[in-house]
Amino acid sequence: MATTTLVSNLSLPSQLGNSRPDSLKPNPFAVNFKRSFAAITVRASSTAFVEATPTDPVEVQDNEATTCNDLFACPICFDPFSSNGESGSGSGFECSTCKKTYFGNEIHLDLTVASGAKNYGESMPAATEIFRTPLVSFLYERGWRQSFSVWGGFPGPEKEFELIKDYLKPVLGGSIIDASCGSGLFSRLFAKSGLFSHVVALDYSENMLKQCYEFIEKEENFPKENITLVRADISRLPFATSSVDAVHAGAAIHCWPSPSGAVAEISRILRPGGVFVATTYILDGPFSFVPFLREGTKRTRQISGSQIFLSEGELEDICTACGLVGFTAVRNRLFVMISATKPS
Ligand SMILES: C[S@@+](CC[C@H](N)C(=O)[O-])C[C@H]1O[C@@H](n2cnc3c(N)ncnc32)[C@H](O)[C@@H]1O
Repeated sequence: MATTTLVSNLSLPSQLGNSRPDSLKPNPFAVNFKRSFAAITVRASSTAFVEATPTDPVEVQDNEATTCNDLFACPICFDPFSSNGESGSGSGFECSTCKKTYFGNEIHLDLTVASGAKNYGESMPAATEIFRTPLVSFLYERGWRQSFSVWGGFPGPEKEFELIKDYLKPVLGGSIIDASCGSGLFSRLFAKSGLFSHVVALDYSENMLKQCYEFIEKEENFPKENITLVRADISRLPFATSSVDAVHAGAAIHCWPSPSGAVAEISRILRPGGVFVATTYILDGPFSFVPFLREGTKRTRQISGSQIFLSEGELEDICTACGLVGFTAVRNRLFVMISATKPS
């Protein structure tokens, strides 16, 4: 059964390392490698999450060999890209197996399966489609996300980030996918922290990625070389099997068309020892007494495509069923942060 943990020890960088340019085009964001870190410990409880005190330095792996180009793979074959092919309207990635070429625009790479399709437009369930609208994407960091703290007990991005870093300690210095990044509030924090070799800000919504891009553009001295914006579907991730060190998914599992299908994909791309950390909300406590709630959530799912979790056990089941181990959960009212690891 789930372990509920209320204390965390976290680390922050004191010094960013050298950056290494990457040939990925047309996306303007590439790769950064950091060298040394001092640290800050952050303790958390269920109500007051953060308190900072000095602590020992944290060892950060220096993954010299990996580049963005190594990380991405064809979402159809899961095989590596052979080149930054020069065909079509600009440079892109060509799959070494199926030879399909994937392109991007000045904002993001499009690594969805249907990328480049001329006549076919895919429609997802409402819980995915709503975030593709320009209005919701615009409002997301301008009140929508903040409301999660009011009704759900979400601690807020900065405090959630401190908790996330605690879970990611074993994989610091590696690559991280911010899956369903939305407007990139965590992707930006990951990139600015300098704690990861690459940050991939991944979402299905073109408009959310546009917001992410605009927020980055507005920030002075943002380490653009440390982040890549990618459009992809969570159930068909454009990464090679066992290639990624960490996957974060903030407030997103309940929006995914198939949470188990998505976590299976996350498990596939995580390398042995790789870490999955995610947040969502659970309708339990007083909600457990609401008659027919279980039946009601099924109906909600059928209509909206949104999954409402009723217990930590459901989330643990998904992780276990997808081959992840060491499930943990931290709660604050309806908010839950979970983590699980790919077995070594
Ligand atoms: C509530 S937002 C979460 C944004 C951000 N991670 C956060 O912590 O606030 C949910 C995100 O999931 C994305 N999403 C929904 N369905 C998806 C899918 N099939 N593949 C990838 N992302 C998806 C939406 O576009 C949206 O940006």
